[in-house]
Amino acid sequence: MLSFQPVESDNFQLPPSMADTAPPIDKAYDFIFWFSVVFTVAITAALLYFIVKYKRKPGVKPEPTGHFMKLELFWTITPTIFIFFLFHAGFTGYIRNATAAEGATEIRVRGKKWSWEFEYPTGDREPGELTLELGRPYKMIISSEDVLHSFYIPEFRMKRDAVPGQYSFIQFTPTKAGVANVFCAEYCGTSHSGMLATVKILPPAEYKEWEKKLGDCQGGAEECEPAKWGERLFVKNGCTTCHGAGGTGEIGGSKSPGPKLAGLFGRDENTTAGPVHVDENYLRESILRPNAKIVAGYATVQMPPFVMKDKQLDAVIAYIKSLK
Ligand code: CUA
Repeated sequence: MLSFQPVESDNFQLPPSMADTAPPIDKAYDFIFWFSVVFTVAITAALLYFIVKYKRKPGVKPEPTGHFMKLELFWTITPTIFIFFLFHAGFTGYIRNATAAEGATEIRVRGKKWSWEFEYPTGDREPGELTLELGRPYKMIISSEDVLHSFYIPEFRMKRDAVPGQYSFIQFTPTKAGVANVFCAEYCGTSHSGMLATVKILPPAEYKEWEKKLGDCQGGAEECEPAKWGERLFVKNGCTTCHGAGGTGEIGGSKSPGPKLAGLFGRDENTTAGPVHVDENYLRESILRPNAKIVAGYATVQMPPFVMKDKQLDAVIAYIKSLK
């Protein structure tokens, strides 16, 4: 397997460029940056020169300056031309990145409080981890299940809002194997900063291997022991952003938005639908239909429903059972 080392950046200010969408943005960025540097230095130097040159001297009387038409025209027209230049540098890249390649693979991206879920053309859903094939054109169909989020991959220089009740799109072709990051770039509540995901870009041969096991546990026998796999699914699904790491019901020392899960199994709980004995069926129902029986005191917090395959559910339930 690929040893996911962080990819070295080829740009001294920006994260590594890992998709075809990045170079046009970087070109515009570098152009505007160096353009600004040159003019900042030139204008500051001219300013200092004139300060010294026209410093008040004894015996010299200042004379009022008149109107100088040619100079007025020069410093109006030149910057206008520059502005068109800068606009052109940004706009060509924007137009280029707004067009999807023919036959792009479509992946659905769903934002919810507080995790990302990716759905492949096979219908398989993977939380918190987007796996892509190097050199294959993709189109992301982005939506939100609750509030406004923003799907942001700095390594692709791509960011698009995830709007409830509407689809938005981005397209790109990964150009470098390795790991990139997904952030949420729109403030969406308590655990906004924890709404992260990973992008794994695999060379075609490795991608084929991965695709065979799509929806199943990826990894060795020990990592795929139900409670262990369940723990990974728990983290990737973003369960920790509401129930705390390890389901402790605490985030950063204060009570988490979702109830504590450690030690929950086998207990009796008061819910909106009356008292419930916490068994496998209750956990299963609470993952698939979180609003069916809400623990007393948590009614105002809305957990989004999670869609999982039976074996994934089994693993997550095995993990929750193991939490003491
Ligand atoms: Cu989702 Cu911020």
